[in-house]
Amino acid sequence: MLKIISSIIISALFISTAYAADNDLKQRAQESKKVVKEFMQQLKGELQSAIKAGGPINAIDVCKIKAPAIAESLSGKHGWDIGRTSLKPRNPSNAPDTWETKVLNDFEARKAKGEDVMPMAHYEVVESNGEKTFRFMKAIPTGEVCLKCHGSDIDPKVKAKLQEAYPEDKATGYKLGDIRGAFTISQPM
Ligand code: HEC
Repeated sequence: MLKIISSIIISALFISTAYAADNDLKQRAQESKKVVKEFMQQLKGELQSAIKAGGPINAIDVCKIKAPAIAESLSGKHGWDIGRTSLKPRNPSNAPDTWETKVLNDFEARKAKGEDVMPMAHYEVVESNGEKTFRFMKAIPTGEVCLKCHGSDIDPKVKAKLQEAYPEDKATGYKLGDIRGAFTISQPM
């Protein structure tokens, strides 16, 4: 009898621990989504006002300087590592690592099966060298405004400035609705 009771207690403990861990991950994912939204809104605001003020050529610097600055300030604020990545990066320092490449390929497969890109996200606890990290990625769809610098029909002046700043640029030829890349977040656990 005692054995049965203790095994019930042990499994209840096990289930509640697993439940708490699962809840912790869900909470981390929720917080990550909020931060991504903040990142996106800040960047879109900056981008739109720069384009309005001086066209896309004027906005290149927003992407070049402001995007990493926003990422850095949000990273500092939350104590996480926050950035943007893509299978076809413009800036080689945004190139994905092995885990990010796998997730980006998976996003493409999910899109090919008809899933909506807008809310597409993935999170996972990744262990490396005995350290656990909570990792989160959120797909970034290509909108109309993005085509000015990531599409197939880029203004030659804009193209020239992009070429000059990013000689290894792979981030052109996108169509409306394509997955341009993803926000990526690493949280130490
Ligand atoms: C004015 C030109 C311009 C516009 C418009 C623009 N981008 Fe970019 N984008 C850039 C530049 C420049 C970089 C490289 C930034 C860097 O050095 O980190 C970049 C980088 C990125 C990256 C990081 C990965 C990479 O390729 O290096 C993503 C993701 C991205 N852009 C998405 C978008 C989306 C989505 C839109 C539309 C909402 C958009 N961009 C509109 C110029 C632009």
